[in-house]
Amino acid sequence: MSDYAELNLDGNSYQLPIIEGTEHEKGLDISKLRASSGYITVDTGFKNTGSTKSSITFLDGEKGILRYRGYPIEQIAEKSSFLEVAYLLIYGQLPSQVELDQFMSSIKEEWLVHEDIKTILTGFPADAHPMGVLSSLVTAQTAFYPESLDPYRSVEKVNRTIIRLIAKMPTMVAWAYTRSKGRMSNYPNNELGYVENFLKMMFSTRAQEYEVDPIIKDAMDKIFILHADHEQNCSTSTVRIVGSSHASLYASIAAGVNALWGPLHGGANQKVIEMLNHIEENGGDVQKFIAKAKDPDDTFRLMGFGHRVYKNFDPRATILKKSADQIFEKLNIDDPMLEIAKHLEDVALEDEYFVKRKLYPNVDFYSGIIMKAIGIPIEMFPVMFSIGRLPGWIAQWKEMREHQEPIGRPRQIYVGATERDYVPLDKR
Ligand code: SDX
Repeated sequence: MSDYAELNLDGNSYQLPIIEGTEHEKGLDISKLRASSGYITVDTGFKNTGSTKSSITFLDGEKGILRYRGYPIEQIAEKSSFLEVAYLLIYGQLPSQVELDQFMSSIKEEWLVHEDIKTILTGFPADAHPMGVLSSLVTAQTAFYPESLDPYRSVEKVNRTIIRLIAKMPTMVAWAYTRSKGRMSNYPNNELGYVENFLKMMFSTRAQEYEVDPIIKDAMDKIFILHADHEQNCSTSTVRIVGSSHASLYASIAAGVNALWGPLHGGANQKVIEMLNHIEENGGDVQKFIAKAKDPDDTFRLMGFGHRVYKNFDPRATILKKSADQIFEKLNIDDPMLEIAKHLEDVALEDEYFVKRKLYPNVDFYSGIIMKAIGIPIEMFPVMFSIGRLPGWIAQWKEMREHQEPIGRPRQIYVGATERDYVPLDKR
């Protein structure tokens, strides 16, 4: 393979170095193109543009491959735990038992949050969308830990911020949820594991301690694992570009929460359930919604279908579809919504419109159905995605800062008005 590509422009020839990754992905290094040729490249939506070189997550959209630090998602989902995956993504290696225990005890030192968070929460209407509340509470952490604003802090101090985020996010989510229901806040319990503690804080009341069903705990743990990282997706790219200005990790993560909120991204899981509800209310008329999704004049999209990278199948959806069957059976749930989802999937995968565009169920298609079955309120679905994606956001931000990457600042091609003189108000 040649070491560079040759570009001929205006009678000149330019050599673009070829970069090849450990999985033999290839890219053209255009970092000197503008300086040498005056040209830039344009790729709206960055469908063909790499923003960085990363060692965290590898995915192959054609083959449906997803690996965290080289470990296949199928093995990770079956054998690991969310906290172990968080450690793997952030620190690069699977932890020893000693390292995992230390990680968990560091988290327990930090999973209480400042009582003034309750004062901030009282400022929100009870029906405020929890993603807006969450991004506000994450940003507010810079007020409680102003030392995090120092971009040149020691590794140990940055690590303390990392632990605080992993530790406090579930507590803040639970406090926001219980407050929205008019209930008292529940506090972390150091006797419990990470996911079990979160579920108890969410659903226990003063009158009734929430008993954590191991099936539900395992399902939530697996959902968090499957959402933990996904290379340079919209919200992760947001975290990286905000962090590239040397904004604090809290500010960068809050930006990621806001990017994930969008219905085309992490907000899709909530929209999937709303869509399936609509179909159920319309007598299960799947064809009607398939037709709407195909209609170029209708903005409706089949939520939970399609992906920028996966063009055969989303391995996470495959795992979750299998889990959905197991969870429904174990919990003895007979929710018609699962059957409607499967019927929708079968019809869509036979339809030429979806086949031609390589639109398959993505991670959001089945995650919402499982979260509904285990009792997660629908408005909290994107928040669950945020808790799951947090280790990936942190790992990607940490890698960007460790590589001392420059501030992200794309160029543009200007297509507006050419030079013209100012017209005084009385002449317009
Ligand atoms: C996530 O990137 C990641 O890694 C994201 C994620 C992660 O883990 O971080 O995997 C999580 O965000 C999953 C995606 C969740 N979003 C949804 O389920 C929303 C529905 N899906 C789409 O909006 C869409 O498929 C996207 C946003 C996911 C991908 O959009 P692209 O790659 O920009 O593709 P496109 O919009 O250019 O669509 C190509 C064609 C278009 O038709 P034509 O103009 O060629 O006629 O496919 C059509 C689109 O109209 N299309 C759909 C569709 N998705 C694409 N048509 C109907 N229903 C859909 N869901």
